[in-house]
Amino acid sequence: LTAEQAERLMAVPPNPDMGDAAFPCFTLAKTFRKAPPAIAAELCEKVGEAVENSRLFQKVAAVGGYLNFYLKRGALAEEVVSDVLEKGENYGKSDEGAGKKVLVEFSSPNIAKPFHIGHLVTTALGSSLERIYSFLGYDTVKINHLGDWGTQFGKLISAYKRWGDAETIEADPINELLKIYVKFHSEAEEHPELEDEARAYFKLLEDGDEEITKLWKFFVDASLKEFNKTYKLLDISFDSYAGESFYSDKMPEVVELLKEKNLLEESDGAQVVRFDDENIPPCIILKSDGTTIYATRDLAAAIYRKRTYDFNKNIYVVGTPQALHFKQIFSVLDKMGYEWSKDCVHVGFGYVRFPDKVLSTRHGDVVFLEDVLRESIEKTKEVIINSATSKNIEDIDEVSEKIGVGAILYSFLKNGREKDIVFTWKDILDFEGESGPYVQYAYARGKSVLRKAEESGIDYSAADLSLLEGNDEFELVKLINSFGDAVKDAANKNEPCCVTRYVTDLAQLFNKFYNTCNIMKSEPRLRDARLKLTEATCVCIKSALYLIGVRVVEKM
Ligand code: ARG
Repeated sequence: LTAEQAERLMAVPPNPDMGDAAFPCFTLAKTFRKAPPAIAAELCEKVGEAVENSRLFQKVAAVGGYLNFYLKRGALAEEVVSDVLEKGENYGKSDEGAGKKVLVEFSSPNIAKPFHIGHLVTTALGSSLERIYSFLGYDTVKINHLGDWGTQFGKLISAYKRWGDAETIEADPINELLKIYVKFHSEAEEHPELEDEARAYFKLLEDGDEEITKLWKFFVDASLKEFNKTYKLLDISFDSYAGESFYSDKMPEVVELLKEKNLLEESDGAQVVRFDDENIPPCIILKSDGTTIYATRDLAAAIYRKRTYDFNKNIYVVGTPQALHFKQIFSVLDKMGYEWSKDCVHVGFGYVRFPDKVLSTRHGDVVFLEDVLRESIEKTKEVIINSATSKNIEDIDEVSEKIGVGAILYSFLKNGREKDIVFTWKDILDFEGESGPYVQYAYARGKSVLRKAEESGIDYSAADLSLLEGNDEFELVKLINSFGDAVKDAANKNEPCCVTRYVTDLAQLFNKFYNTCNIMKSEPRLRDARLKLTEATCVCIKSALYLIGVRVVEKM
């Protein structure tokens, strides 16, 4: 076995009495023509002395077909806690991504179409993934592929010319645009000729008509200003807002390339690309009126991104209902002979369900992102004001914002992304359950102990960490030690929930340690070591929460 192969085989024994790590000897049985327990016994004899003399392990034992290793608790605590405190916010980082570029496309709301809660999920997921990759040393680019092009703009322009008013729109762009857009749809049901008018307007827009382009720009700018408020609240930014319109002049080339490669076929007046796999329906490139569609723009975007960024990975964080669309896009790229099509990844996610109609939305059926965040902040504020510790909090609004927004982000990143998200305020703001506030509370608790120590003039900087040998301390140290693995796991699967799970476990173990160890009342040398462990835990919780977009509060 190579060292890597051996490492991959290592497992954690089912109960702590059996040690902290185990090497299963079963795969060696065939090679050595011996029973696994005999191999374990032999290995134990061979490495026993070396293990006993090592810095981190105290002993090894052969049990059945396993070779079990026992850590030196104090030594591990020394190693891990000082590493965390030395590295601070760099603890857990790696350079596995050095020299590699990862594009993360996320959020991508539509201008003039309803902005729904799914956009908040892609925003949470995508931003978290970007932070995770960046933490692992990848060079990342955050892209907002704005839905700022397409036939809906024809509809919107037609609606605006009939019922629109610039001032009202500027005052409340998303709502007003939505209002006239919805009106267009209900009117068009009785007057189908409106649809033709809308198509004609979009054609004018694609052809660069000056007046129409100016109107379009007005809608886009007004909407962007609104979106940016939400991004600010979420502490999220983008490197590029190159949306669909950005590719409007880059599509003729795509059509040319497809023609050159003999990939275009006619179908009912439209130009399509067909696939060998019958389960994938043909991808429409040009509609019968010669206008392009969503898919054409995505092809242009992918090619542009490869040329501009030369990515190693191009991630699209978009709801699972669009899985087929991305399959088509990636297959067309493959047919075009681009071997990098295999580096394009669709990261999908499920629906958000509202079992108890919990949102007091001003907008009928459409759930607005900002409403959800505001409501969460308001509800958090109520909880805080009614809590016993509220008098210690200096800025209740700021704290409520961090907790309220964090609670929503946490809930979206709590479970595997393909699962539907069940949205209930009870779970999201449950300060005692698996929630954002629960983890933030563990952090604030740790910080409060450290403040108390400081106020009492305790200097624990020279603490002897090898005293941390109790069960709860040991479990906590081991978990802190595995932070980097949790982040790598999250990147490998494109699943931020690995980090959410991790930080929740960490908060739980910290609370256990806090409750059983009575930090400030411990004998002074032990107290000092425990304070250091508390500090290291706080560093780790803060970093992990950052990776899922959640900010910490010092007091709550
Ligand atoms: N704007 C689209 C929507 O809201 C999402 C865009 C996804 N990204 C892409 N490259 N097609 O449904």
